[in-house]
Amino acid sequence: MTLLRVENVAKAFHGVHAVDGVSLTVGQGRIQGIIGPNGAGKTTLFNLVAGVLKPDSGRVLFDDMDLTGAPPHKIARAGIARTFQLTRPFASMSVRDNVITAALGHTRSRKQAQQAADAVIERVGLQRWRDNVSGDLPTAALKRVELARALAIRPRVLLLDEVLAGLVPAERQPVVDMLATLRDEDGLTMVFVEHIMAAVMRLSDSVLVLDQGKVIADGTPQEVTSDPRVIEAYLGEEPTIADA
Ligand SMILES: Nc1ncnc2c1ncn2[C@@H]1O[C@H](COP(=O)(O)OP(=O)(O)OP(=O)(O)O)[C@@H](O)[C@H]1O
Ligand SMILES: [Mg+2]
Repeated sequence: MTLLRVENVAKAFHGVHAVDGVSLTVGQGRIQGIIGPNGAGKTTLFNLVAGVLKPDSGRVLFDDMDLTGAPPHKIARAGIARTFQLTRPFASMSVRDNVITAALGHTRSRKQAQQAADAVIERVGLQRWRDNVSGDLPTAALKRVELARALAIRPRVLLLDEVLAGLVPAERQPVVDMLATLRDEDGLTMVFVEHIMAAVMRLSDSVLVLDQGKVIADGTPQEVTSDPRVIEAYLGEEPTIADA
């Protein structure tokens, strides 16, 4: 069953076509990878789906609801959560309060929000940081806070924008395992933007490749990484493709 359907969305900034007619369908319980060079439009695409930006044209459909141009809180309420490329928890709040804040509005009471937060904190392995002030956390823990805040709304689709960026290799593996578990055990549907190709190859059922706002390839991880247009698009970049 298709859960998320993006139809021909476009967004330009002062004449720059950041996203230029992108379509995408993600089935229930699937993991969709999105790759592409810097500035390809990946984050903009997420912002269009999450309601941070309104598309100039095209549609965003979720579980047969038309969410095109809906505000972020409505999209979150419908069941789409996202993490930000640059983590942005409330720095002066504890980890727990940050996650509770995210859960509030998606639960009936503060008590329920606390319970949801504690469950999610355990799920993402943040117990030892739970009562720390978020601004003091190392990057790896901050990334998990970002993930916990997104999971706290009990999403049906999770949009992950470079959750592995800034992590050293030893820190990446547990996060990749966690994402695999969220899909396998919870049936969570995910769309993730990632430059770390080993993770894209391991997690993705299907990969969409963007370049200059356009889809240049769409297929299995193996198909897209051997596609000459994709290799061409990455020329002159860090050899992330070769990492796979
Ligand atoms: N708010 C904005 N105002 C103006 N231009 C923007 C804005 N957001 C993005 N852009 C431009 O749109 C294009 C796509 O940017 P976007 O951030 O979506 O790329 P990306 O694929 O996420 O790149 P990266 O891999 O570096 O995160 C870039 O040219 C960027 O400069
Ligand atoms: Mg980006």
